[in-house]
Amino acid sequence: MYTLKWQNDKLYLIDQTKLPVEHVDIECSNYKEVADAIRHMKVRGAPAIGVAAAYGIVLGAMEYTGETGEPFLTHMEEVAHTLEITRPTAVNLFWAIERMTSVVKGNLGRPLEEIQKALLREANKIMDEDMESNKRMGQFGQELLNDGDVILTHCNAGALATAGYGTALGVIRAAVATGKHIEVYADETRPYLQGARLTAWELMEDGIPVTLITDNMAGYFMQKGEITGVIVGADRIAANGDVANKIGTYSVAVLAKEHNIPFYVAAPTSTFDLSLESGDQIPIEERDQQEVTHIQGKRIAPYGIKVKNPSFDVTPNKYITAIITEQGVAYPPYNENFRALLSNK
Ligand code: MRU
Repeated sequence: MYTLKWQNDKLYLIDQTKLPVEHVDIECSNYKEVADAIRHMKVRGAPAIGVAAAYGIVLGAMEYTGETGEPFLTHMEEVAHTLEITRPTAVNLFWAIERMTSVVKGNLGRPLEEIQKALLREANKIMDEDMESNKRMGQFGQELLNDGDVILTHCNAGALATAGYGTALGVIRAAVATGKHIEVYADETRPYLQGARLTAWELMEDGIPVTLITDNMAGYFMQKGEITGVIVGADRIAANGDVANKIGTYSVAVLAKEHNIPFYVAAPTSTFDLSLESGDQIPIEERDQQEVTHIQGKRIAPYGIKVKNPSFDVTPNKYITAIITEQGVAYPPYNENFRALLSNK
């Protein structure tokens, strides 16, 4: 199984809107197709959309046949903008585009073919680094888990949300690899059902015991003492440690605190946005109302009903026990401990 693959000058993605019922590959041969795949969540998850956008930039450069220098830069700015406006919350998207844009700017004087090659090298690097980060995060994070733990997770922060292995699910995979017996409870994650469709499927494929619950059951199982820890991914982390992640994460964090259950976030440092002091400044994506009024294309709500559909929420740092990154584990106070973590880089 792969999430993204570069082959024969094209980007291949597994269509996540069709999983787990159908396995359909999508072939992107131009940057607009990549933007479309991100916007329509055929590829999703913060690190995965960053990697996809990086290859989108490569395709944008490969499509260009005009003069180098300023006209090429103008074209690439248009490519970057088209990819940037696909989704607003996950900072990895902007981080990857910025990295690719600095390669464009740093190579402007060179022949087009050389710039294209440099861009492909950078995109491959972003992809490889993400995989490597997930493995490292797994090693740091697994030390926090005990044999026999039952971990609740929300949304999908697995191989499908990254270049591979996963962030939250990577920590679980790493713990299982050391011989610990870990069970997972997966929130179904309304309205898009990433937990039911993707997390449940990924873990079953790996033979890791997983139980699917609806989002409103988390408190019930915590109260009964069946859950020993929570691990989620992140879409953007502010300088004070506030974390934006899939809608419903905040409710889980508050419940975890009430029940004295550790609440961990696993995310690469490419998900940090230290330009934002706190989570209040994180832009929250509002998605199509149909995601709430319909399930799998079937209407479940009255015609004309007023609907809201924020796709992410912000969990304040006070609910977060620790943030697991590829540089190590950060504990509160996050402001200063992030600085210490990043200075090890
Ligand atoms: O809307 P999505 O499916 O892109 O949202 C994904 C999440 O919220 C994930 O939990 C997050 O990106 C972490 S992925 C390693």
